[in-house]
Amino acid sequence: MKCDYNEFIDNVKRKTGIDLNLYKEAQMKRRLTSLREKKGFNDFSSFFQAMLKDEKLFDEFLERMTINVSEFYRNPKRWEVLENKILPRLLKQNPRPKIWSAACSTGEEPYTLAIIMSHFMPLSQVSILATDIDRAILERAKVGFYAERSIKDVPKEVLYNAFNKDTIGYTIKDEIKNTIKFRQGNLLADRFESNFDLIVCRNVMIYFTEEAKHELYQKFSDALRPGGILFVGSTEQIFNPQTYGFETEDTFFYRKK
Ligand SMILES: C[S@@+](CC[C@H](N)C(=O)[O-])C[C@H]1O[C@@H](n2cnc3c(N)ncnc32)[C@H](O)[C@@H]1O
Repeated sequence: MKCDYNEFIDNVKRKTGIDLNLYKEAQMKRRLTSLREKKGFNDFSSFFQAMLKDEKLFDEFLERMTINVSEFYRNPKRWEVLENKILPRLLKQNPRPKIWSAACSTGEEPYTLAIIMSHFMPLSQVSILATDIDRAILERAKVGFYAERSIKDVPKEVLYNAFNKDTIGYTIKDEIKNTIKFRQGNLLADRFESNFDLIVCRNVMIYFTEEAKHELYQKFSDALRPGGILFVGSTEQIFNPQTYGFETEDTFFYRKK
């Protein structure tokens, strides 16, 4: 007989398309058990039934299963490589590149991309797709308000140009906001668009099983044009990039052959 948690996984998958089996189990089970207990449910079966009737509870489940920590210019040296080495090549090949921030969380990553792109072209010509599985987080991303912690690596001159500051924090300016199309999406279930020049997918693959990562690398490779780049997080090196038709262009940057 299936245990309560495994049945919950099956139910969630059937209802939402979200496959919790593709996330590393120990951590996921711990996070969801603590939410279930906090909400006063004795088992996952009653928790799931309640979720079906209560959109707020479902959103809380989504929030709990995901980890949303992000920062502007996360690992600043990598963004320097993107700006000084990767983008000049990509832009030579395509002056209007198709860019995707996959698992964008509260928006720091796509906004960082937009700020960097503005060093190469007018913002009115920049267009970036930004997706995340978590609806609530996307609403926060669209508002674009940040406390001090998220902006610690933003260069001083950028802070002044890109944000409106008030007493409690920083709000990203509208002309930067307007370059981003936020959309909900599940990396582990969706079909991807194609012909991307640059896909940035950082600090989410660490939560996925090896099998899920393997499929995702292949889907990213298929979604890139030849010469396009996959930019991954600083603990997420791909050990056998050639398996997916990638060559290493720099540390954490993979070029589709
Ligand atoms: C730790 S944040 C990373 C944010 C940003 N990429 C960065 O590096 O700062 C991980 C994000 O992945 C999202 N996520 C988790 N599973 C996902 C999935 N299957 N599809 C799309 N996004 C997912 C979470 O909602 C969360 O916002």
